[in-house]
Amino acid sequence: MKKLLVLCLIGLLFTRTNAQQKKIWNETEEEKTERMAWWTEARFGMFIHWGLYAQPARHEWVKKRERISDQDYQKYFEMFNPDLFNPTEWAKKAKAAGMKYAVITTKHHEGFCMFDSKQTDYDIMNTPYGKDILKEWVDAFRAEGLGIGFYYSIIDWHHPEFTIDSRHPQSAKSKEEYNELNKDRDMGIYRQYMKNQVEELLTNYGKVDILWLDFSYPGEFGKDKDDWGSVELLKMVRKLQPGILVNDRLDLKDYQGGWDFTTPEQFKVDKWPEENGVRIPWETCQTFSGSWGYHRDENTWKDNKQLLTLLIESVSKGGNVLLNVGPTARGMFDYRADERLEGMGEWMKFNSRAIYGCTQAPDVLQTPANSLLTYNPKTNRLYVHLLDYPLQNFVMPGFADKVKYAQFLHDGSEIKVGKRHGAWGKDELDAKALNLILPVNKPNVEIPVIELFLND
Ligand code: GLC
Repeated sequence: MKKLLVLCLIGLLFTRTNAQQKKIWNETEEEKTERMAWWTEARFGMFIHWGLYAQPARHEWVKKRERISDQDYQKYFEMFNPDLFNPTEWAKKAKAAGMKYAVITTKHHEGFCMFDSKQTDYDIMNTPYGKDILKEWVDAFRAEGLGIGFYYSIIDWHHPEFTIDSRHPQSAKSKEEYNELNKDRDMGIYRQYMKNQVEELLTNYGKVDILWLDFSYPGEFGKDKDDWGSVELLKMVRKLQPGILVNDRLDLKDYQGGWDFTTPEQFKVDKWPEENGVRIPWETCQTFSGSWGYHRDENTWKDNKQLLTLLIESVSKGGNVLLNVGPTARGMFDYRADERLEGMGEWMKFNSRAIYGCTQAPDVLQTPANSLLTYNPKTNRLYVHLLDYPLQNFVMPGFADKVKYAQFLHDGSEIKVGKRHGAWGKDELDAKALNLILPVNKPNVEIPVIELFLND
């Protein structure tokens, strides 16, 4: 009996210390929701991938894809001079598109730093451009009232101490080869370098709203939280910027405070992502075309309707969208990106009320055919996004006694409720269904939205 008690005590102690280890910081669920409120409300942000890879203009992974050596990549560093860079123009474009925050690459996998770093010479200060791009960017975006986010690649294909792994341009074929390649490399030195750089980023640019770290790939010839020193790194981050939001790519998924939101990349989620049965904050990051960095010859650009549907559908499942622009080597947005931003802005100008502050509709409400629902819990209004404009009648099953008033969102014009237009003889509509009588002509809006004022 005594033995059992002792064993129990040891067990308890063990789980306690274990639980303590698995904690980055103390915060209640309510505090977390509160800290993230502005972001949840915002729903739509701009991702910006910009670095030396804008010059080869054939994907930000070009160094890896073509196994380019440091020596051969050097020319891009020696030439980088984006003479047309005007961050205020960028910020205005983001804002006009309806975006509320932006996240820019401060360093991508290539290792080049777009900011003034005391840790390396491989930064913007030593290019022909010679000015702190990040500083200029932060000032301009802040001035336009946008949230500020820093993407920082924990991967580094330039740092001499970063151990060569499966994702590295010099990746090898066998354990022996890796051992040989890495015999003089000390990941510990890189870890410190990275920590120092993140410290620079979080101390030299005022308040930073988001830190977007990218990415872990545990396993053989990969890297995980121990390689990065993720726990220590994130503790420092939380200390330097307690209000900051951090994504989930540090391999700290099972740590309390180890991440704030999850990041489905380049795909649409089937439903609101969950962790242990609980819905979690999420943001999908997506490109206009197949590349994050400027890619001159890539032609798989999504059209306006696809992009709007992506945004609406994400909000309809409780998530955010971070939509990427890859500026050119001269510092401009590609004309194709401009076209899409303008298209989205045109829609957002009239329909953003169905996006900001909105989320998934209550489960009791049934989504009618060919539509998506978003819902604002504060105003108790429901938004029906008509993906495929119906022919005069729009039937909403289960809505018979739920709606106080209906109107188009873009022009505030009333939509009548009533018997199905043109129905023969007795109307066979289900008693619980509501029918909205729509004009024959689709309004001049890419995806028309019906705003429903629900009964309390
Ligand atoms: C991936 C890619 C990278 C891109 C990122 C954006 O992890 O490595 O190129 O920056 O996704 O989410």
